[in-house]
Amino acid sequence: MKNFALIGVGGYIAPRHLKAIKDTGNNLIAALDKNDSVGILDSYFPEADFFTEFERFDRHLEKLKRKGTRIDYVTVCSPNYLHDAHIRFGLRIGADVICEKPMVLNPWNVDGLAEIEKETGRKIFTILQLRLHPAIIALKEKIKKAPAGKKFNIDLKYITSRGHWYYVSWKGDIQKSGGIATNIGIHFFDMLLWIFGDVRSNRVDQHSRDTASGRLELEKADVNWLLSIDANSLPEEIRQAGKRTFRSMTIDGEKFEFSEGFTELHTKSYEEILKGNGFPIGETRRSIQLAHEIREKRL
Ligand SMILES: NC(=O)c1ccc[n+]([C@@H]2O[C@H](COP(=O)([O-])OP(=O)(O)OC[C@H]3O[C@@H](n4cnc5c(N)ncnc54)[C@H](O)[C@@H]3O)[C@@H](O)[C@H]2O)c1
Repeated sequence: MKNFALIGVGGYIAPRHLKAIKDTGNNLIAALDKNDSVGILDSYFPEADFFTEFERFDRHLEKLKRKGTRIDYVTVCSPNYLHDAHIRFGLRIGADVICEKPMVLNPWNVDGLAEIEKETGRKIFTILQLRLHPAIIALKEKIKKAPAGKKFNIDLKYITSRGHWYYVSWKGDIQKSGGIATNIGIHFFDMLLWIFGDVRSNRVDQHSRDTASGRLELEKADVNWLLSIDANSLPEEIRQAGKRTFRSMTIDGEKFEFSEGFTELHTKSYEEILKGNGFPIGETRRSIQLAHEIREKRL
């Protein structure tokens, strides 16, 4: 059984990590959140120690270490701009780290963390759950078998409406979240690069606080993409049906279906990491680079 500590336990995504730790038969020893509304712990690990101050959390883990209780993994579910600091903490206490997406906001942060990985001999893994989605794995296999030189035409739209709260939270602050192409788009950019190869050109048509769009030329595909958190961008029939999310991808005009199973892949991610098949830091670089370039090109 592995021992975990978790940073950001009071937030939206943390329950998926708590469930994954539990489902994989492991234990949460301690958790940190600056907010104390963490009753969620009762559903998973009521025995875990909880801290609202980083210094006390650090002191506690250090004390446990001296008494012989090792933290094997630190899970990072804090806001994006804090990931690198929290990852460094995990590595320095001698743990491997499982970090939510995007691992960091800028490509140079990846280099910095890779150095500390080497210094400490520990590993950083990230959550790239779309790479574990059966339909996406099947698509990757299919594209691999396509004739050399074949270029696919892709149209990707992802509209996931968010209310006014979004702009007040760290997610609406480009300095903290990276903006929507990073915060929302990183899953899709990672998936596209993973399947269709490196970026040849990258045009950004729009990058406002609620909508981003552009055109990407990849080795094996030309991609028109649009991401939005504005409910007004939803297709009429989706709105009529009372839905707030619309996900659509066509490949050469054919619909690619992956609406289901998108949110259930954290446990699978943990299973793979624990088996030694996690996605290492280098795997995150291309999508972080692309998201960074999109941010820099914003009109
Ligand atoms: N894989 C996915 O599909 C997916 C989905 C949503 C969010 N995420 C990622 O998960 C991470 C968390 O997102 P969320 O939606 O849960 O956000 P959130 O705002 O709901 O939760 C973040 C939590 O971190 C806490 N926090 C903030 N600063 C802290 C600090 N200095 N020390 C300790 N705790 C601190 C907050 O109090 C909050 O409870 C982000 O990186 C986000 O991009 C991933």
